[in-house]
Order: sequence, then structure tokens, then C-alpha cells
Amino acid sequence: MNSTASATARLNVPPHVKHERLIAWVGEMAALTGAKDVVWCDGSDEEYDRLCQQLVDAGAFIRLNPELRPHSFLARSDPGDVARVEGRTFICCEHKQDAGPTNNWVAPAEMRELLQTGEKALFKGSMRGRTMYVVPFSMGPLGSPIAHIGVELSDSAYVAVNMKLMTRMGRGALDVLGADGDFVPCMHTVGAPLEPQQQDVAWPCNDTKYIVHYPETREIWSYGSGYGGNALLGKKCFALRIASWMGREKGAELGWLAEHMLLLGVTSPEGKKHHVAAAFPSACGKTNFAMLVPPAGFEGWKVTTIGDDIAWIKPGDDGRLYAINPEAGYFGVAPGTNDKTNANCMATLKRDVIFTNVALTDDGDVWWEGMTETPPAHCIDWQGRDWTPAIGKETGAKAAHPNSRFTVSATHNPALDPEWDNPNGVAIDAFIFGGRRSTTVPLVTEARDWVEGVYMAATMGSETTAAIVGQTGVVRRDPFAMLPFTGYNMSDYFQHWLDMGKRIAALCTKSGAKVPKIFCVNWFRKGADGKFIWPGYGENMRVLKWMLDRVQGRGEGVEHVFGTSPRYEDLNWTGLDFPPARFQQVTSIDPSAWQAEMTLHDALFEELAWHLPTELKATKARIVERLTA
Ligand code: GTP
Ligand code: SPV
Ligand code: MN
Repeated sequence: MNSTASATARLNVPPHVKHERLIAWVGEMAALTGAKDVVWCDGSDEEYDRLCQQLVDAGAFIRLNPELRPHSFLARSDPGDVARVEGRTFICCEHKQDAGPTNNWVAPAEMRELLQTGEKALFKGSMRGRTMYVVPFSMGPLGSPIAHIGVELSDSAYVAVNMKLMTRMGRGALDVLGADGDFVPCMHTVGAPLEPQQQDVAWPCNDTKYIVHYPETREIWSYGSGYGGNALLGKKCFALRIASWMGREKGAELGWLAEHMLLLGVTSPEGKKHHVAAAFPSACGKTNFAMLVPPAGFEGWKVTTIGDDIAWIKPGDDGRLYAINPEAGYFGVAPGTNDKTNANCMATLKRDVIFTNVALTDDGDVWWEGMTETPPAHCIDWQGRDWTPAIGKETGAKAAHPNSRFTVSATHNPALDPEWDNPNGVAIDAFIFGGRRSTTVPLVTEARDWVEGVYMAATMGSETTAAIVGQTGVVRRDPFAMLPFTGYNMSDYFQHWLDMGKRIAALCTKSGAKVPKIFCVNWFRKGADGKFIWPGYGENMRVLKWMLDRVQGRGEGVEHVFGTSPRYEDLNWTGLDFPPARFQQVTSIDPSAWQAEMTLHDALFEELAWHLPTELKATKARIVERLTA
């Protein structure tokens, strides 16, 4: 055997893999990390079952009661590895300005030394004693002109099985790659090499974490975490940070958008269908809105899911914006999900689910806060400890971690839209932006035009949630719900949105199509009692219907400082007792609160002064003028 052949043999390259660059890269990475062996994932059900069983045998997965939750598993993470780590997330492009003030930046050469080339580089030997899985995946339908291929190398079997549910993973993606296709290399290690004889832990990870993107060379390097967006690299790292850079790089004429948006279809009783894209920050309601069950009073209406977290959006020649969901599964927040708030989601979770950090009931099923009104008398909490309602009350301990999640294939969703994997995407009629604000921001506002909509999205604030490591409940600016996900300078991102608006407006003038309307919503206003005033969930349909009425040029409303909002009588209240006084509470605009809010816009614009579009400054001046008038 010559040396190439023997090297290939150790890499276990399957005969169907013909891609020399891919094989060479896998070889390099196996050498760098010192992985014990290499397994190429084919994405088959047999492979999924084998890896899940392996995780069960290793104590990393608990198989749930097959009668109650067939073919489903529970994983418990390390208590220090429970959410995305924004403080450890880096955009490493050549020029700091291109990452901008909202991203952590380190020069690529410096970061490479730290991770790959330096004497103590973190990836050197990081997979010793572990298997390296080669996980090829497609973001977007296989072979679609909109889709992109990635290959994740990971020493976590948990990552491999999650990627099977979240993406089109395996042989199909390799076939699309062929011998010479382009792919985004996604390097992932939990950073916990195993020495000979060393006993493994259920959730290996490292206190040191780096989630690194090199947008110019389209590379992702993730070290130290096994959780969610830190480790499933097709999601936030590729489909948002790298993809947003790719979409903008093409410029005003050919560019596209990668957004933190759900995509849904709404079909009226008359059979007229519209499509809506909505951006809410992490844990602010995207999955729930995407699976909305229309309430009483909306008989004959249907809401269908295209995506629940990410949208890739491209203008067509007719000026309409066509969107696809690049993912194939949901990595959704468990707490708060129940048969009343989200019956479609509960149905989706009946079988074939990986749960992470929820509680385990005594009969081998799962539970989380808000799943049932009455908690189980006893369960095992997300850290493997006994939990009872009394313990919860006494210590404040939650049975499920607030950022506990489920991973499930989109095909299990009973409300899945028939167009969900149409490679051409669906045409967007309206954009919605929404934050989590207990005060100040009204239930719904329609922007006057594209530019004012961009302004509202750019200056949106939201209270932080458990989806991010750090303090929760702190209001911060989260432009377009993309603060942690825009892979380039935020001001340039605003400009890209304005440029796209101009481009589609010109095309729409020719084709007669309409530019999508832009709305802002807030489901989360609280009363003096600290409770949400608006019932939310399915009841959000009432607001959605008003927005679609507006899209069709028939809904009524009143104009105010920020745009147009419905009056009480402009919404359908059939089936809900929500008196005008409460409506007043969720829709009121308090001038002094808004004066204060505008100083936060000032601070944002100061931070983003470099390349900040002049149109946004002019819009702000107009709003301030209206506010003080
Ligand atoms: P990510 O997956 O982190 O991007 O989150 P998401 O935007 O998909 O949020 P999700 O729909 O999972 O909701 C997060 C939390 O907010 C859950 O606990 C929900 O129960 C709760 N929630 C969702 N919609 C509403 C709503 O309309 N009103 C209220 N009060 N809570 C909501
Ligand atoms: C989010 O935080 O917005 C998520 C969860 O969707 S994660 O995949 O972990 O980023
Ligand atoms: Mn998200």
C-alpha cells in the first residue's frame, strides 16, 4: 500500500466519496485534532438509531418510555453549557470595521494561531480518544439553486444525530457536492480529549469556548460547547452569520438576505393564501407564531409552517421576495409549550424527538414548566436531581432549564405547509418585527413605508432571554432580531436592507407587484400585576388578520407618530373577551416613555455611526419632530 492509500484507509473514506478537497481537509483535521477514528455519516435511519443507541450506552442519552414517547431521547447538558455564548462568538474578517461594533472581532491570523497553528493551539489534539464524525449537510432543499452545502466535522455524536433532524444530512448532500462542489467547512470540537483509561462524562465540553467565523474564507470553527447554536453549525453560524455575509457580498443588484425569521402561510376561508416572514429575537415567539392555531372566531382560517427560525430571501424578477427555510427541523424552546398555547407543536413532539435539559417523569416521559397546569408530584430535573413542586417552591429550582429544547424533524409538524421545501420559495406579502417589551411598545404598528419599516426594525429593543448565556430581562437594542447573527457591520446591513427595498420597488413598478408591508408587534406588554395583558399565542391571529387586511388595502386604522395601528373596532373579537380598556393598555403610546426610548435610539446610532445610512438619520429626525409636535 502506498502512503496515500494507507492515509485514506485510516480516514475510512467511503467509496462513494469522490471529492478530493473534502478528503484532504478531513485528513488535515484528523491529523490536527488527533481523532481516534473517522466516521462518515450517511444520514440513514439505521445510522441514526445506531448512534442514538451508542449515546444511550454511554449514558449521554436516556431512552424515553417507548409507549409514551416512542423513539425519543433525553440528553442532559453540562450545567455550564446550556445556551449560546454571545460573548465568545467572533467574526474574524481582515478589517475590524467590516465586523462592526456589534460583533466581537479578532484578526484572522491571530485567531488561527490561537485555534490552529500556535504551539498551544486549542484544536491541536482536541479530539484525542474520540471519534470524528464527518457530517455533510445541505441548507435548503437538496440540489436547489438557493441551497448551500456544509460539512461539519464534530467529535460529538449528539451533534451528528441532531444534524440529521435539523438539516438534509448525509449521502444526498455528498451527491450534490460531487467531485468538486463548494462547501462551507464547519469544524467543531467539544474540547475534551479523552486520555487512555479516562472515563468519559455524559456531556463533554470545555470551560473555554470559541464560536469563530471567517466570513471571507467561509469557515466556521467552534470549540468547547456542545449546545444548540454553538455546536449545530448549520444553524446560526452558517445559515445566519456566514450566509448574511454571502448575501450582502453580492451587492445591491444580486444580493439576498439571510434572516432570523419564521415563515408562515395564512389561508383565508375563501382560499386566498398569503405568506408572512417574522423576526423576533431568541425565545420571543417565532416557533409559536409559525405553528399558530387560529382561535374561536376564525373558523375556516389555516396557518401553515414553512420555517420557524431562519429564512433565506431572494428577489425574483417580478420584484417579489421569495423565501426558503434552509433548515429541515426545529430546535425549539420547551418551557411554555402546551396543548393550549401550541397544540401543533405538542403534536409534532409525539415521537422521534431529542429533548435536551427538560425534566424526566417517573414514568419515563418528559415534563417542563408550563407543559401542564399541575406539575408532576415528582420528577428528575434537568440536572438529574430529585424535583417536587415543594422543592421548586422552596429553592426556586426549575424542573426544566428555561432554555431546554426539543429537536424534531419538520415533517412531524401537522401544520407543515405543502410549499415548505419548494426550492423556489414562497413570495412574502408582509414582514413583521417584534420584541419582548413589558412596557412602551404597542401591540401592532404598520410602518408608513419600507424606509420607516427598516428604521423600526433597526431600532427595535427586546428583553434578553435564557436563549443567551447572561442576565435575562435586560432591554437591549436587537436590530432586526439579528444582533447576535449579522455576520458583518450592522450599519452596512441596514444599508443592504434599504438597497434591497429600492431594487424591489423598481422591479415591482414594472411588474405591478406590491412591495411587502412592514409591521412591528409586541405580544409581551405587562400590566401593573406583572402579568401579560395580551393573551398571545393563537390570539395573535387577530392581529395577523388585521395585517393581512392592510396588505389587501382594506383594513382600517388610525395614523400616529410611528405609523398606523388598529382601533378596537378594527379587530375581530369574536370568541375572546378582551374589553376596550385592556386594548387601550396594550396599544397606548406614552410620549414620555417614547422620549426616553428615542435616547436609546440615539445611543444605538452613535455606536453605529460608521456607515450609518443617512436615510435612517433623516427618518429619526422626522419621528422626533412628530413626537414633540
Ligand atoms: P428561538 O428558538 O430561541 O429563536 O425562540 P422563538 O423565537 O422560536 O420563541 P418560541 O416560540 O419558542 O417562544 C419562546 C417562549 O415565549 C416560550 O416560552 C413561549 O411559550 C413564549 N411565547 C411564545 N409566543 C408567545 C405569546 O404570544 N405570548 C406570550 N406571553 N408568550 C409567548
Ligand atoms: C436562538 O437562540 O435564537 C435559537 C436557539 O434559535 S440556538 O440554535 O441555540 O441558537
Ligand atoms: Mn432562533
